[in-house]
Amino acid sequence: MQPRNVVLVGFMGAGKSVCGRLLARRLGRCFVETDDMIVAREGQSIPEIFSRDGEDRFRQLEAETLEALALKSDDVIATGGGLPCREGRMDALKRLGTVVWLRGPLDDLVARARRMGARPMLDGRPLDEIETLYRRREPYYAQADVTVDTADLGPDQVVGRLLTALRARDLSHV
Ligand code: S3P
Repeated sequence: MQPRNVVLVGFMGAGKSVCGRLLARRLGRCFVETDDMIVAREGQSIPEIFSRDGEDRFRQLEAETLEALALKSDDVIATGGGLPCREGRMDALKRLGTVVWLRGPLDDLVARARRMGARPMLDGRPLDEIETLYRRREPYYAQADVTVDTADLGPDQVVGRLLTALRARDLSHV
């Protein structure tokens, strides 16, 4: 049977964790995060992995995590902001189920991600560099099956929109 996971993608601060957890609860499904899988496997936090082993090592761990996701069939999966942004990654994610991009205004995303902290890709980077990174990533996120605009919405409202979009998609597939 085709896996029917819901896979959330988007930039740091998009709300993938909070909304993913809520969505999983609403759907009665398990919630997994690729970052948590990496942290559990390595026994180190994400900032520790970046500072000890570098970004390339982290990206390699993401690739391995993506392979491990083939075991999931009915979960809600939140991906790290950079995971989909390599050749072939969005196709691999789409094979796992429905991919949803949580899209929001960059300023809001960055402010939220900075508030939460522990984001090595943002540390010490001025906004124009972050914007360049975002623009480079946007074409990957844009390949998602469904896009939900999160501007000015709280997590409950985002999940409401997400459920509506997922149901509409299901109906169009029967
Ligand atoms: C990253 C995003 C983070 C985490 C790591 C790198 C990125 O996840 O995977 O810090 O490159 O955008 P979130 O998107 O959950 O912040």
